[in-house]
Amino acid sequence: MPGQDGLEKIHEPVLLGEVVDALRVKDLAHLKKAHFIDATLGLGGHSLEICKAGGNVLGIEADEESLEIARKRLMKVCPPTFSSHERGSFTLVHGNFRDLKEIALKERFDRVDGILFDLGISSYQLATKVKGFSFQDLDAYLDMRFDRISQEVTAQDLLKVLNVGQLIELFRVTMPKGVARALSKRIVEARKIREIKTVGDFLEIIKPKFRSKPKLNPSTLPFLALRIAVNSELDNLRQALPQALELLKAGGRLVVISFHSGEDGLVKNFFKESQDSERGLIITKKPIFPEKKEIATNPRARSAKMRILQKK
Ligand SMILES: C[S@@+](CC[C@H](N)C(=O)[O-])C[C@H]1O[C@@H](n2cnc3c(N)ncnc32)[C@H](O)[C@@H]1O
Repeated sequence: MPGQDGLEKIHEPVLLGEVVDALRVKDLAHLKKAHFIDATLGLGGHSLEICKAGGNVLGIEADEESLEIARKRLMKVCPPTFSSHERGSFTLVHGNFRDLKEIALKERFDRVDGILFDLGISSYQLATKVKGFSFQDLDAYLDMRFDRISQEVTAQDLLKVLNVGQLIELFRVTMPKGVARALSKRIVEARKIREIKTVGDFLEIIKPKFRSKPKLNPSTLPFLALRIAVNSELDNLRQALPQALELLKAGGRLVVISFHSGEDGLVKNFFKESQDSERGLIITKKPIFPEKKEIATNPRARSAKMRILQKK
């Protein structure tokens, strides 16, 4: 388990044992040259385990606050001065995995044994009120940027400037077209009266009538669509996957954990294309899901799906 610093309660890494096995960290680490990229470092939950098992990790994270928390945690587990031969090392970079190849080449992680993408946001980010990721924080400003240093456009900006057609496209990513259209029209009407600034303002507009899946909180899908758009999440993933395959050694593994069908569809198609063009071998014919007992203790794991591709 990761270090007992209390943070594992704030964000519990999903499918932790499965990721370490998929990357074959323990089998490779004794070689001392095993290199892994954690493209979504977060609070370092997966990287801690990789480093502890002897892997050398390059961690990339868009959110500076998360990166600094991960740095402190990793320093405790794999301090640069640690003399044991059983621990690995880590290098952390504040950046976007859209630039994966450039970052990896700069840090000399160019022929790696494994790359992990654990997509989306961490429970820590969800709990950070200032970002407006959660629909529990009514007064929070609708920001939703992962990287508040490099990204300029917030969720509030999108709700202010996009026209109806653009809003429909935005919400279409997670919602049926009819529901996306109705919500988009309502946004345009509402903003004539008052600017949509906070989580509470947006919730007022969503209202239960925009429920698109009976068991889901009606706010889940509109919030998810906005977050995906603010952070260009699908586009970044589309750009990063081929770069990841390029950076792997023959036999190296690409492991992706996705949390919604938009992400999973992209991953599945990319894996299939890679196999069809004989660049990769799909290891997971069906995705790997967390076990019931993991879901019981970590609700975020509920919608996780892990896929593995091996480079040929
Ligand atoms: C689910 S969390 C990762 C949690 C991490 N595996 C752990 O156990 O602590 C996903 C992380 O990826 C980061 N992220 C999302 N998109 C990114 C991107 N394009 N580039 C870099 N980091 C990104 C988010 O800021 C978030 O911290």
